[in-house]
Amino acid sequence: MNILVVGGGGREHALIYKLSQSSICDKIYCAPGNAGISELAECIDIKANEIQKLCDFAKANRIGLTVVGPEDPLVMGITDLFEEEGLKIFGPSKECAAFEGSKKLTKEFLFKYKIPTANYVKADSPEEAIDKLERFNYPLVIKADGLAAGKGVLICKDKVSAVEAINSLMVEKTLGGAADTIVIEEYLDGVETSVLCFMDGNTIAPMASSKDYKRAMDNDMGLNTGGMGTYSPNPLITEKMMKKINDEILEPVLHGFKAEGLSYKGVLYIGLMIVDGRPKVLEFNVRFGDPETQVLMLRLKSDLVEIMLNCTDGMLDPSKIQWSDEASVCVVAASGGYPVEYEKGKKISMDGNLDDITVFHAGTAFDGEGNIVTNGGRVLNVCACANDIEKAREKVYSNIDKISFDGMFYRKDIAIISNTLDKGMA
Ligand code: AMP
Ligand code: GLY
Repeated sequence: MNILVVGGGGREHALIYKLSQSSICDKIYCAPGNAGISELAECIDIKANEIQKLCDFAKANRIGLTVVGPEDPLVMGITDLFEEEGLKIFGPSKECAAFEGSKKLTKEFLFKYKIPTANYVKADSPEEAIDKLERFNYPLVIKADGLAAGKGVLICKDKVSAVEAINSLMVEKTLGGAADTIVIEEYLDGVETSVLCFMDGNTIAPMASSKDYKRAMDNDMGLNTGGMGTYSPNPLITEKMMKKINDEILEPVLHGFKAEGLSYKGVLYIGLMIVDGRPKVLEFNVRFGDPETQVLMLRLKSDLVEIMLNCTDGMLDPSKIQWSDEASVCVVAASGGYPVEYEKGKKISMDGNLDDITVFHAGTAFDGEGNIVTNGGRVLNVCACANDIEKAREKVYSNIDKISFDGMFYRKDIAIISNTLDKGMA
């Protein structure tokens, strides 16, 4: 079978690494891909949001399965477009993907089905928003309703900063139309985690647990990023906690989708805050996480093509999804200045003697002379597996300095388990 993967980051490299191991897979194309992906797949010059071009390509190249990485094409309706043309595609429909496209929609759904989440109000004008601030204590959280590439959530410690945030989003329109509506939310003080699930419309199958580090700097300092590192499994998600998440979140979410007449197929990524031992939903993403996928694909034992086909066909069998007992760790090497401003085109040098390490490429490209250069904020994902997280961590950190590019930085505290456990007990 020919497979098309849409996207070009570390998440897509990890998916392709796993898809390419399947006996069902003949050839993989990736749009647009990156330098590392080009070793496993033929990269084609179509952007992830050029959905009509992708559909034409899939028809012309007898693609048996298309796998969508990022949210944009899903929110634009790539799945509906492909299905209208009789093409098989892994990812939710436009109607289902709208949950990532609108915070307000997600909150309405969560409240309707009594799924634990922070209290909120919505506001359609700055006057209404300022008026409604009175209903909350500080800190509070202000969120742009629409897609904002990770820049749409502001935690405000007092009224002055809340009014500033409202003005910037709704008067100066710093995020354009994404903040025509905003959500004001109670601040949840707890431990953040996430659960990624495969779904086939009828069944929900949580993947192995993982932990993401969102802040740019060590000790969770600095700005929010797409994710600076991950590990799996996450010791905070004990069997008991997983049962709670299943009973209080996953089953009610599945019930809610069905009651709304939504057949959700693909990956649902549920962001959670665990507050005093109780999981509460922060957000839905309608796709695999990045860099959660990197550590998960290193542990997935089952055939990913088969799982994805079963999801699209409504035949998912959770008992057939097997994970290795090993632990995995991923550390992101990023460009100096990320997540704000950074330069691209820096030559990457990589010592040939990387020891038992898997490097997934994120923002990389070839320059005119065939050198691999930086092409984004998050550049490389340095990953390893071992019997436990500590050993996997050691492998990553004893190799990462064999890689270098001008301005490269990475967090030094990824996968120090005692930090996570301390916070979990707090
Ligand atoms: P979201 O895109 O809604 O997940 O928000 C981005 C980040 O903001 C989350 O990963 C959390 O770290 C933080 N956040 C969002 N909502 C809340 C909340 N109600 N309380 C505390 N932190 C939050
Ligand atoms: N790592 C967070 C995300 O993919 O949204």
